Amino acid sequence: MDQTQTGIAFEHNSAQQPASARSIKMAARNVRLDYYNERIGQLLNVLAGIDLSVHTGELVSIVGPSGCGKSTFLTAVDGLISIDDGEIRVDDQIITKPGPDRAMVFQNDSLFPWRTVLQNVTYGLELQQKMPRAQMLERGRALVELVGLQGFGDHYPHELSGGMRQRVNIARALAPDPQLLLLDEPFAALDAQTREFMQAELLKILERTQKTALFITHQIDEAIFLSSRVAVFSARPARIKEIVSIDLPKQRTLAIKLDPRFRHLQDHIWRLIEEESAQTGMHNHA
Ligand SMILES: Nc1ncnc2c1ncn2[C@@H]1O[C@H](COP(=O)(O)OP(=O)(O)O)[C@@H](O)[C@H]1O
Ligand SMILES: [Mg+2]
Repeated sequence: MDQTQTGIAFEHNSAQQPASARSIKMAARNVRLDYYNERIGQLLNVLAGIDLSVHTGELVSIVGPSGCGKSTFLTAVDGLISIDDGEIRVDDQIITKPGPDRAMVFQNDSLFPWRTVLQNVTYGLELQQKMPRAQMLERGRALVELVGLQGFGDHYPHELSGGMRQRVNIARALAPDPQLLLLDEPFAALDAQTREFMQAELLKILERTQKTALFITHQIDEAIFLSSRVAVFSARPARIKEIVSIDLPKQRTLAIKLDPRFRHLQDHIWRLIEEESAQTGMHNHA
Protein backbone atom coordinates (compact mmCIF):
# COMPACT_ATOMS: atom_id res chain seq x y z
CA MET A 1 0.00 0.00 0.00
CA ASP A 2 1.09 3.52 -0.70
CA GLN A 3 0.36 6.58 1.44
CA THR A 4 -0.66 9.57 -0.61
CA GLN A 5 -0.19 13.12 0.62
CA THR A 6 -3.74 13.02 1.92
CA GLY A 7 -2.99 9.99 4.04
CA ILE A 8 -5.32 7.64 2.13
CA ALA A 9 -3.89 4.27 1.33
CA PHE A 10 -4.20 3.12 -2.27
CA GLU A 11 -2.72 0.08 -3.91
CA HIS A 12 0.66 0.93 -5.28
CA ASN A 13 0.99 0.91 -9.03
CA SER A 14 3.71 1.63 -11.51
CA ALA A 15 2.40 4.93 -12.87
CA GLN A 16 5.65 6.73 -12.14
CA GLN A 17 7.65 4.35 -14.27
CA PRO A 18 8.50 5.35 -17.83
CA ALA A 19 5.73 4.52 -20.30
CA SER A 20 7.75 1.73 -21.89
CA ALA A 21 8.03 -0.10 -18.57
CA ARG A 22 4.39 0.33 -17.61
CA SER A 23 2.05 -2.59 -17.32
CA ILE A 24 -1.21 -2.84 -19.19
CA LYS A 25 -4.17 -2.32 -16.86
CA MET A 26 -7.01 -3.00 -19.32
CA ALA A 27 -6.81 -4.81 -22.63
CA ALA A 28 -9.77 -5.30 -24.96
CA ARG A 29 -9.15 -7.61 -27.91
CA ASN A 30 -11.51 -7.96 -30.85
CA VAL A 31 -14.57 -7.23 -28.70
CA ARG A 32 -17.83 -7.92 -30.51
CA LEU A 33 -21.25 -7.35 -29.01
CA ASP A 34 -24.76 -7.65 -30.39
CA TYR A 35 -28.02 -6.53 -28.85
CA TYR A 36 -31.17 -8.47 -29.60
CA ASN A 37 -33.89 -6.06 -30.65
CA GLU A 38 -37.19 -7.66 -29.65
CA ARG A 39 -39.31 -5.21 -31.60
CA ILE A 40 -37.85 -6.19 -34.96
CA GLY A 41 -36.65 -9.63 -33.85
CA GLN A 42 -33.11 -8.98 -35.08
CA LEU A 43 -29.62 -8.78 -33.70
CA LEU A 44 -28.08 -5.33 -33.73
CA ASN A 45 -24.31 -5.40 -34.04
CA VAL A 46 -23.04 -2.64 -31.71
CA LEU A 47 -19.35 -3.43 -31.26
CA ALA A 48 -17.58 -4.90 -34.27
CA GLY A 49 -14.13 -5.79 -32.98
CA ILE A 50 -12.75 -3.23 -30.52
CA ASP A 51 -9.02 -3.39 -29.74
CA LEU A 52 -7.98 -1.01 -27.02
CA SER A 53 -5.44 -1.08 -24.19
CA VAL A 54 -5.01 1.28 -21.27
CA HIS A 55 -1.69 1.44 -19.43
CA THR A 56 -1.46 1.64 -15.68
CA GLY A 57 -1.83 5.25 -14.57
CA GLU A 58 -3.09 6.39 -17.96
CA LEU A 59 -6.36 8.17 -18.81
CA VAL A 60 -7.75 7.21 -22.21
CA SER A 61 -10.85 8.93 -23.57
CA ILE A 62 -13.38 7.50 -25.97
CA VAL A 63 -15.21 9.79 -28.38
CA GLY A 64 -17.47 8.94 -31.31
CA PRO A 65 -20.87 9.66 -32.84
CA SER A 66 -23.97 9.40 -30.66
CA GLY A 67 -25.28 5.86 -30.39
CA CYS A 68 -22.10 4.25 -31.74
CA GLY A 69 -21.58 2.00 -28.73
CA LYS A 70 -19.36 3.91 -26.29
CA SER A 71 -21.50 3.29 -23.19
CA THR A 72 -22.02 -0.30 -24.28
CA PHE A 73 -18.27 -0.83 -24.42
CA LEU A 74 -17.74 0.72 -20.98
CA THR A 75 -20.54 -1.38 -19.51
CA ALA A 76 -18.86 -4.48 -20.96
CA VAL A 77 -15.55 -3.49 -19.33
CA ASP A 78 -17.47 -3.09 -16.07
CA GLY A 79 -18.73 -6.65 -16.60
CA LEU A 80 -22.44 -5.81 -16.54
CA ILE A 81 -23.07 -7.11 -20.05
CA SER A 82 -21.30 -10.03 -21.64
CA ILE A 83 -19.57 -9.81 -24.99
CA ASP A 84 -20.17 -12.13 -27.94
CA ASP A 85 -16.59 -12.49 -29.11
CA GLY A 86 -13.08 -11.42 -28.11
CA GLU A 87 -11.97 -10.74 -24.55
CA ILE A 88 -11.53 -7.96 -22.02
CA ARG A 89 -8.82 -8.30 -19.39
CA VAL A 90 -8.14 -6.16 -16.34
CA ASP A 91 -4.79 -6.93 -14.69
CA ASP A 92 -4.62 -9.90 -17.01
CA GLN A 93 -7.83 -11.43 -15.63
CA ILE A 94 -10.63 -12.02 -18.13
CA ILE A 95 -13.72 -10.01 -17.19
CA THR A 96 -16.96 -11.96 -16.85
CA LYS A 97 -18.79 -9.96 -14.16
CA PRO A 98 -18.50 -6.73 -12.14
CA GLY A 99 -15.82 -6.64 -9.45
CA PRO A 100 -14.26 -4.31 -6.88
CA ASP A 101 -11.31 -3.71 -9.22
CA ARG A 102 -13.59 -1.50 -11.38
CA ALA A 103 -15.88 1.43 -10.54
CA MET A 104 -18.29 3.40 -12.72
CA VAL A 105 -19.07 7.12 -12.54
CA PHE A 106 -22.14 8.26 -14.50
CA GLN A 107 -23.43 11.60 -15.76
CA ASN A 108 -26.26 11.65 -13.27
CA ASP A 109 -25.14 11.14 -9.73
CA SER A 110 -26.89 8.28 -8.03
CA LEU A 111 -26.34 9.50 -4.49
CA PHE A 112 -28.69 8.42 -1.73
CA PRO A 113 -30.61 11.57 -0.70
CA TRP A 114 -31.08 10.32 2.88
CA ARG A 115 -27.37 9.77 3.43
CA THR A 116 -24.85 12.50 4.15
CA VAL A 117 -21.86 13.10 1.87
CA LEU A 118 -19.64 10.99 4.15
CA GLN A 119 -22.24 8.21 4.39
CA ASN A 120 -22.59 8.17 0.60
CA VAL A 121 -18.81 7.88 0.20
CA THR A 122 -18.55 4.99 2.68
CA TYR A 123 -21.59 3.12 1.30
CA GLY A 124 -19.56 0.66 -0.81
CA LEU A 125 -17.18 0.02 2.07
CA GLU A 126 -20.10 -0.77 4.38
CA LEU A 127 -21.34 -3.35 1.89
CA GLN A 128 -17.89 -4.89 1.59
CA GLN A 129 -17.48 -5.17 5.38
CA LYS A 130 -13.73 -5.51 4.90
CA MET A 131 -12.55 -2.93 7.41
CA PRO A 132 -13.46 -1.82 10.93
CA ARG A 133 -15.91 1.08 11.19
CA ALA A 134 -13.33 3.56 12.49
CA GLN A 135 -10.99 2.85 9.60
CA MET A 136 -13.89 3.11 7.16
CA LEU A 137 -14.86 6.54 8.48
CA GLU A 138 -11.26 7.68 8.40
CA ARG A 139 -10.93 6.62 4.76
CA GLY A 140 -14.27 8.26 3.95
CA ARG A 141 -13.19 11.56 5.51
CA ALA A 142 -9.87 11.49 3.68
CA LEU A 143 -11.69 10.93 0.39
CA VAL A 144 -14.13 13.78 1.09
CA GLU A 145 -11.06 15.96 1.54
CA LEU A 146 -9.31 14.55 -1.51
CA VAL A 147 -12.18 15.64 -3.78
CA GLY A 148 -12.20 19.12 -2.21
CA LEU A 149 -15.31 18.77 -0.05
CA GLN A 150 -13.74 19.31 3.37
CA GLY A 151 -16.38 20.71 5.70
CA PHE A 152 -19.24 19.16 3.71
CA GLY A 153 -19.10 15.60 5.07
CA ASP A 154 -22.29 16.08 7.10
CA HIS A 155 -24.23 17.79 4.31
CA TYR A 156 -26.97 16.05 2.35
CA PRO A 157 -26.91 15.80 -1.48
CA HIS A 158 -29.74 18.34 -1.92
CA GLU A 159 -27.56 20.93 -0.19
CA LEU A 160 -24.83 20.58 -2.83
CA SER A 161 -24.30 22.04 -6.32
CA GLY A 162 -24.08 19.74 -9.35
CA GLY A 163 -20.29 19.95 -9.39
CA MET A 164 -20.10 19.06 -5.70
CA ARG A 165 -22.39 16.07 -6.19
CA GLN A 166 -20.11 14.79 -8.94
CA ARG A 167 -17.18 15.14 -6.54
CA VAL A 168 -19.07 12.92 -4.07
CA ASN A 169 -19.70 10.46 -6.90
CA ILE A 170 -15.99 10.30 -7.67
CA ALA A 171 -15.08 9.90 -4.00
CA ARG A 172 -17.60 7.09 -3.66
CA ALA A 173 -16.18 5.33 -6.70
CA LEU A 174 -12.64 5.64 -5.29
CA ALA A 175 -13.59 4.33 -1.83
CA PRO A 176 -13.18 0.57 -2.50
CA ASP A 177 -9.80 1.36 -4.12
CA PRO A 178 -10.64 0.19 -7.67
CA GLN A 179 -7.85 -0.35 -10.17
CA LEU A 180 -9.81 1.12 -13.07
CA LEU A 181 -12.25 4.03 -13.05
CA LEU A 182 -14.89 3.96 -15.78
CA LEU A 183 -16.42 7.40 -16.35
CA ASP A 184 -19.38 7.79 -18.72
CA GLU A 185 -19.81 11.49 -19.54
CA PRO A 186 -19.50 12.40 -15.85
CA PHE A 187 -19.50 16.16 -16.43
CA ALA A 188 -22.14 16.35 -19.17
CA ALA A 189 -24.82 17.81 -16.92
CA LEU A 190 -22.61 20.57 -15.48
CA ASP A 191 -22.52 24.17 -16.65
CA ALA A 192 -19.54 25.07 -18.85
CA GLN A 193 -17.51 26.81 -16.17
CA THR A 194 -17.99 24.12 -13.51
CA ARG A 195 -17.20 21.52 -16.12
CA GLU A 196 -13.82 23.04 -16.96
CA PHE A 197 -13.02 23.34 -13.28
CA MET A 198 -13.96 19.70 -12.69
CA GLN A 199 -11.72 18.59 -15.57
CA ALA A 200 -8.74 20.18 -13.86
CA GLU A 201 -9.86 18.72 -10.52
CA LEU A 202 -10.16 15.21 -11.97
CA LEU A 203 -6.58 15.37 -13.22
CA LYS A 204 -5.39 16.35 -9.75
CA ILE A 205 -7.40 13.55 -8.12
CA LEU A 206 -6.05 10.96 -10.56
CA GLU A 207 -2.53 12.16 -10.04
CA ARG A 208 -2.82 11.92 -6.26
CA THR A 209 -4.44 8.48 -6.32
CA GLN A 210 -2.42 7.19 -9.30
CA LYS A 211 -5.54 5.63 -10.80
CA THR A 212 -6.13 4.37 -14.31
CA ALA A 213 -9.21 5.66 -16.13
CA LEU A 214 -11.35 5.16 -19.19
CA PHE A 215 -13.41 8.27 -19.88
CA ILE A 216 -16.28 8.76 -22.32
CA THR A 217 -17.16 12.26 -23.47
CA HIS A 218 -18.97 14.11 -26.24
CA GLN A 219 -16.74 17.11 -25.82
CA ILE A 220 -13.54 16.92 -27.85
CA ASP A 221 -11.65 19.54 -25.82
CA GLU A 222 -12.45 17.65 -22.62
CA ALA A 223 -11.06 14.43 -24.16
CA ILE A 224 -7.83 16.11 -25.27
CA PHE A 225 -7.32 18.02 -22.03
CA LEU A 226 -7.66 14.91 -19.84
CA SER A 227 -6.03 12.21 -21.92
CA SER A 228 -2.74 10.81 -23.02
CA ARG A 229 -4.63 9.11 -25.87
CA VAL A 230 -8.08 9.58 -27.41
CA ALA A 231 -9.79 6.59 -29.01
CA VAL A 232 -12.17 7.64 -31.79
CA PHE A 233 -14.96 5.10 -32.34
CA SER A 234 -16.54 4.72 -35.78
CA ALA A 235 -20.29 4.93 -36.30
CA ARG A 236 -22.19 1.80 -35.21
CA PRO A 237 -21.15 -0.95 -35.36
CA ALA A 238 -18.20 0.57 -33.55
CA ARG A 239 -14.62 -0.09 -34.49
CA ILE A 240 -11.61 1.94 -33.49
CA LYS A 241 -11.31 4.55 -36.21
CA GLU A 242 -8.13 6.06 -34.85
CA ILE A 243 -6.22 6.31 -31.59
CA VAL A 244 -4.89 9.85 -31.34
CA SER A 245 -1.83 10.41 -29.15
CA ILE A 246 -2.05 13.64 -27.20
CA ASP A 247 1.53 14.83 -27.27
CA LEU A 248 1.08 17.72 -24.88
CA PRO A 249 2.96 18.24 -21.59
CA LYS A 250 1.74 15.88 -18.88
CA GLN A 251 1.16 18.71 -16.41
CA ARG A 252 -1.88 20.49 -17.80
CA THR A 253 -3.64 23.68 -16.89
CA LEU A 254 -6.76 24.96 -18.61
CA ALA A 255 -4.60 27.51 -20.48
CA ILE A 256 -3.31 24.67 -22.66
CA LYS A 257 -6.64 24.74 -24.49
CA LEU A 258 -5.37 27.92 -26.19
CA ASP A 259 -2.18 26.23 -27.44
CA PRO A 260 -2.09 25.88 -31.27
CA ARG A 261 -1.21 22.19 -30.88
CA PHE A 262 -4.37 21.73 -28.80
CA ARG A 263 -6.42 23.43 -31.51
CA HIS A 264 -4.82 21.25 -34.17
CA LEU A 265 -5.71 18.05 -32.26
CA GLN A 266 -9.25 19.34 -31.73
CA ASP A 267 -9.62 19.96 -35.45
CA HIS A 268 -8.23 16.54 -36.34
CA ILE A 269 -10.56 14.64 -33.97
CA TRP A 270 -13.54 16.76 -34.99
CA ARG A 271 -12.95 15.78 -38.63
CA LEU A 272 -12.73 12.08 -37.74
CA ILE A 273 -16.07 12.19 -35.92
CA GLU A 274 -17.67 14.32 -38.60
CA GLU A 275 -16.73 11.76 -41.26
CA GLU A 276 -18.46 9.07 -39.22
CA SER A 277 -21.52 11.16 -38.42
CA ALA A 278 -21.92 12.18 -42.06
CA GLN A 279 -21.86 8.54 -43.08
CA THR A 280 -24.91 7.74 -40.96
CA GLY A 281 -26.63 11.07 -41.42
CA MET A 282 -26.39 11.63 -37.67
CA HIS A 283 -25.23 15.22 -38.08
CA ASN A 284 -28.66 16.13 -39.38
CA HIS A 285 -30.24 15.04 -36.12
CA ALA A 286 -27.65 16.19 -33.60
N1 LIG B 1 -30.07 -2.48 -23.60
C1 LIG B 1 -30.09 -2.28 -24.93
N2 LIG B 1 -30.81 -3.10 -25.74
C2 LIG B 1 -30.84 -2.93 -27.07
N3 LIG B 1 -30.16 -1.92 -27.72
C3 LIG B 1 -29.44 -1.09 -26.97
C4 LIG B 1 -29.36 -1.20 -25.54
N4 LIG B 1 -28.56 -0.21 -25.07
C5 LIG B 1 -28.15 0.49 -26.15
N5 LIG B 1 -28.67 -0.03 -27.29
C6 LIG B 1 -28.41 0.43 -28.66
O1 LIG B 1 -27.02 0.21 -28.88
C7 LIG B 1 -26.45 1.29 -29.60
C8 LIG B 1 -25.26 1.88 -28.84
O2 LIG B 1 -25.72 2.51 -27.66
P1 LIG B 1 -24.74 3.23 -26.63
O3 LIG B 1 -23.64 2.30 -26.29
O4 LIG B 1 -25.57 3.75 -25.52
O5 LIG B 1 -24.16 4.44 -27.51
P2 LIG B 1 -23.30 5.74 -27.11
O6 LIG B 1 -22.96 5.63 -25.67
O7 LIG B 1 -22.10 5.70 -28.01
O8 LIG B 1 -24.14 6.93 -27.42
C9 LIG B 1 -27.56 2.29 -29.83
O9 LIG B 1 -28.05 2.09 -31.14
C10 LIG B 1 -28.60 1.93 -28.80
O10 LIG B 1 -29.88 2.22 -29.26
MG1 LIG C 1 -23.50 6.85 -24.03
